[in-house]
Amino acid sequence: MLKIAVMGSGKGSNFQAIMHAINDGRIPNAQVVLVISNNSKAGILEIGRSWGIPSIHLSTQECGSEEKFIGNLLDALQKHEVNCVVLAGYMKRIPHKVIAAYRNRILNIHPALLPRHGGKGMYGMHVHESVIASGDHVSGATVHLVDEEYDRGKILLQREVPVSKDETPESLATKVLAVEHLIYPEAIRLFAKGNASAMNDTGKKEN
Ligand code: GRF
Repeated sequence: MLKIAVMGSGKGSNFQAIMHAINDGRIPNAQVVLVISNNSKAGILEIGRSWGIPSIHLSTQECGSEEKFIGNLLDALQKHEVNCVVLAGYMKRIPHKVIAAYRNRILNIHPALLPRHGGKGMYGMHVHESVIASGDHVSGATVHLVDEEYDRGKILLQREVPVSKDETPESLATKVLAVEHLIYPEAIRLFAKGNASAMNDTGKKEN
C-alpha cells in the first residue's frame, strides 16, 4: 500500500484531483495519510481536513531552524508510515536529507514539458511566460521524481498542450492546470502499480 504525504503551499487543486481519483477507486493501493504545508493559510490544508486527513503546518520559520524543520518533517513522515511524498504546488526546496530518506519516492508536477522551462526560478507564471517568449508551439505538464537537482529527476509522465497564437501566460496556465489534474492521478496510479509489481518480483511484502 502506498501511504502518501502530500506537500503543498497553495490552493491544492492537484491534491483535490488526486483525492477524487483515490475516492473513485481509480488509484487502488494508495491512500493519502498526511498533508503538510509551509503556509498555515493554504487552501490545501483546508482540503485535507475536509477529507478527514491529518493536515499540518510545518515550516523552517515556524520550527526556528532548518535542522529542526527537517527533524520534525521526518518525524511526521515516519509517524504516519509515509512511503511516498507527492509535491503538489510546494514552493520550497525539499532538504537533501529528506530526498535521501525518500530516494525515488518523491513525486513532483511541473507545468511545462521538462527538461524545457525547468530549473531554479521556473515556477508559477514564470514558466508560462518563458514558454510564450520562446515561441514554442507546445507546452504541457510533467510528473517526475525529485532528486537533488531542480526539475531534473526521472520523468514519469508527460502530456502536451498546444500553445495557440494569441496565448497569454494566464490562458496557458489554465489549460496546463487542467492537464495536470488528469496526469497526476494517472502517474500516481502507475507509480503505485510499479511499486506493487516490483514488490511481487522480489517476493517481499511491503505496507
Ligand atoms: C501547479 O501549476 C503546479 O504545476 C505547480 O503549482 C501549481 C499548483 O496548483 N507546481 P494547486 O495548488 O495544485 O492548485
